[in-house]
Amino acid sequence: MAIEPDCRNQDLGKNLIFEVLKIMKEKSIKHVKVAANLNNAAVNRLLSNIGFKRERVFNLFNRCHCLYSYELR
Ligand SMILES: CC(C)(COP(=O)(O)OP(=O)(O)OC[C@H]1O[C@@H](n2cnc3c(N)ncnc32)[C@H](O)[C@@H]1OP(=O)(O)O)[C@@H](O)C(=O)NCCC(=O)NCCS
Repeated sequence: MAIEPDCRNQDLGKNLIFEVLKIMKEKSIKHVKVAANLNNAAVNRLLSNIGFKRERVFNLFNRCHCLYSYELR
């Protein structure tokens, strides 16, 4: 996911994720997992702020990533 630099910090990224979660819920998906590069402060803060749970940190292509999970009820 990427938002054009000029359009960032207007809640577009957050609302885009909420829309995707809504569609997933309509399709009866229960568990969502997302990985993000740990150096990417924006996406890590975004995911934490909207309720994604930090599961674990892992190495991918020599970079630290964080695995997040989200339960759809
Ligand atoms: C990550 C990205 C999609 C966020 O999109 P956005 O539309 O700017 O984000 P939003 O305006 O919806 O921000 C929602 C929350 O994200 C966090 N956030 C966004 N930009 C941030 C930044 N530069 N630093 C820290 N936190 C940030 C904040 O918690 C923010 O909520 P708050 O303002 O209430 O604190 C955008 O920065 C982007 O396109 N980055 C480049 C591509 C990328 O890294 N994609 C993710 C790959 S996994």
